[in-house]
Amino acid sequence: MFLPKIHIRQLRCLPKQLFLRQFCKCASQVPPEVLEELEQGFEDMKECDSKSLLKKHLTKERFDKLKDKTTPTYNSTLLDCIRSGLKNPDSGVGIYAPDPEAYSTFSDIFDPIIEDYHGTYFPLCGMEKDKQQELIDSHLLFKEGDRFLKDAKATRYWPTGRGIYINDNRNFLVWVNEEDHVRIISMEKGGNLGAVYERLILGENQLSKQLEFSRDKRLGYLTFCPTNLGTSLRASVHMRLPSLADDKAKLDKMAAKYNLQVRGTRGEHTDAEDGVYDISNKRRMGLTEYEAIQEMYKGIRALIDHECQEAAKACKK
Ligand code: ARG
Repeated sequence: MFLPKIHIRQLRCLPKQLFLRQFCKCASQVPPEVLEELEQGFEDMKECDSKSLLKKHLTKERFDKLKDKTTPTYNSTLLDCIRSGLKNPDSGVGIYAPDPEAYSTFSDIFDPIIEDYHGTYFPLCGMEKDKQQELIDSHLLFKEGDRFLKDAKATRYWPTGRGIYINDNRNFLVWVNEEDHVRIISMEKGGNLGAVYERLILGENQLSKQLEFSRDKRLGYLTFCPTNLGTSLRASVHMRLPSLADDKAKLDKMAAKYNLQVRGTRGEHTDAEDGVYDISNKRRMGLTEYEAIQEMYKGIRALIDHECQEAAKACKK
């Protein structure tokens, strides 16, 4: 028999007294025997051959930060969360939330486990080098070690707090704490600029329900770098320009004429590889979002026309 099942589980909001543990006489202190069990359990876990997410993410630093904490209303301890994982090294996950507040009080251990399990978010912390490179090569993730940002002291505590959200289609992403707090990106291969823009607007509308973006009457949306002020919109295409790659002076001249910014294949401060450039609108301020995209579009049309003429000339020779 085929028995489809869909389960929804929820942490019930039980009356407070049902959560109160008898042994905890003092409201917010972790009893010494609990601390002892925690320390012992943590030591044993280090030695054992466990593949649990708990072992993976509960670093000594996190453990020390959390071991003395209790949840404000229910007085749950770290031990209440991880006892099962400590006692069962063959756990896949190894953690439970004994009450609803545990997710915030012990977020330092819950969050990385939630992210690791559900895969919604890719934090830079703990990301494997191969994975990081694959995401950078696919133009999804920002590269590391930007000397300009470093000297602006914008890379302190790197990679803590940095990461990216990527949708399943890999065509909508949000960079977190690279140069700005958020950078919302829509992209795809091919020439359908309308589809890319539409997805950006849909995503941005959703995000702005939860996030409030800093905006100034005179300067528009506020960004770390003044170059991005205004609409903060940068519309770019990656395109091969074989003839202009050989004539940088002409490329610069056309870029100036059409208000374009020319970047290398891997973005700003990189070289073009095999004649592939990242071309975008230079101005983000003093025009509407639509006009910013149009500006880029008109400019790349001119570059394409130029390339076609050069290719035709070469054929005639
Ligand atoms: N600070 C660098 C410069 O002055 C980059 C400026 C624009 N780029 C940026 N990602 N904000 O050349």
